[in-house]
Amino acid sequence: MAKPKVGIIGAGNVGATCAQRILERDIADVALVDVVAGLAAGKALDLAQAAVLEGHDGKIVGSHEYTGLQGAQIVVITAGMARKPGMTREDLLEANAKIVHSIVPRVMSQAPEAILILVSNPLDAMAYLAAQMTKWGPRRVFGMAGVLDSARLRCFVAEKLKVSVKEVQGLVLGGHGDTMVPVPEMTTVAGVPITKLLPKEEVEQLIERTRKGGAEIVGLLKTGSAFYAPASSTADMVQAILLNENRILPVCAWLTGQYGLDKVYCGVPARLGQGGLREVVEIPLSDAAKKSLNQSADAVRKEMKAIDAFLNAAA
Ligand code: NAI
Ligand code: 2OP
Repeated sequence: MAKPKVGIIGAGNVGATCAQRILERDIADVALVDVVAGLAAGKALDLAQAAVLEGHDGKIVGSHEYTGLQGAQIVVITAGMARKPGMTREDLLEANAKIVHSIVPRVMSQAPEAILILVSNPLDAMAYLAAQMTKWGPRRVFGMAGVLDSARLRCFVAEKLKVSVKEVQGLVLGGHGDTMVPVPEMTTVAGVPITKLLPKEEVEQLIERTRKGGAEIVGLLKTGSAFYAPASSTADMVQAILLNENRILPVCAWLTGQYGLDKVYCGVPARLGQGGLREVVEIPLSDAAKKSLNQSADAVRKEMKAIDAFLNAAA
């Protein structure tokens, strides 16, 4: 039986590594696309040869053309510039809006039934841009960030408490920027909130390191941003949808009143399964977390205004 197909636009660090993860998990075949001639084809060929050694039969094709996307159930957009030291994700808005704006119509023509997962930064703004262009609705257009930010928090907690990452759950809500909202009372080790396991100052340090988790890696790499964890995070979302896992993951989702937030893309827990984002899941939050989530949504709204201006100018 033919496997499902996932299209990945952008064969750079995140895109190619995401393709690798999806193939090695054996959950889908992959069509990789990049604007640079030969890049996607070359990486696809390399990954096809790696498959022989990894022992799976996943198929991957790569091209600068979009026809390979035909029949894709999910398309992941990772194309665009990555941060350099000193840059915020928001500094990428104009350049990446142009790139995503050029990609979306091509995806729509080749894979009109697909679910779209945005990864390019600034993430929340790019999800909004794609949603405005496709009109495919919140179930089919959303973004990856919270899975990554929560993984960072979980990593730091496990390291701090010297426990297996498997015992640590973590939750980061809000926009994928400096205003993101790590929720310590929902971050647990074997079910116990870290607020009961660590002094307040140490919890604060973990939160701050999580907020700056992307910048920490940019500062070390100097030539680009994180990609292993972003690729695995995206693969988790793809898997949840294709295998109808009904996982509840933090997703950059379009809100229509949930959490008291209306008409804004923001990171919240959502159930992912067949058909995409099946529902936003509302969990009780402390007053402090609610306030921070509101502030984060306000920061996203500013980016959405910039996207509205961009779309008006492009019309
Ligand atoms: P990269 O520079 O390694 O790869 C980007 C790729 O996009 C390049 O191969 C480039 O040729 C391609 N590209 C540029 N314009 C294109 C177009 N018009 N059509 C098709 N392909 C095009 O960058 P990397 O590290 O893969 O990051 C990609 C994006 O993902 C960046 O914007 C980065 O900030 C973002 N990102 C977002 C994360 C999140 O949590 N949402 C996490 C990590 C990265
Ligand atoms: C990150 O958080 C750059 O958004 C990317 O690593």
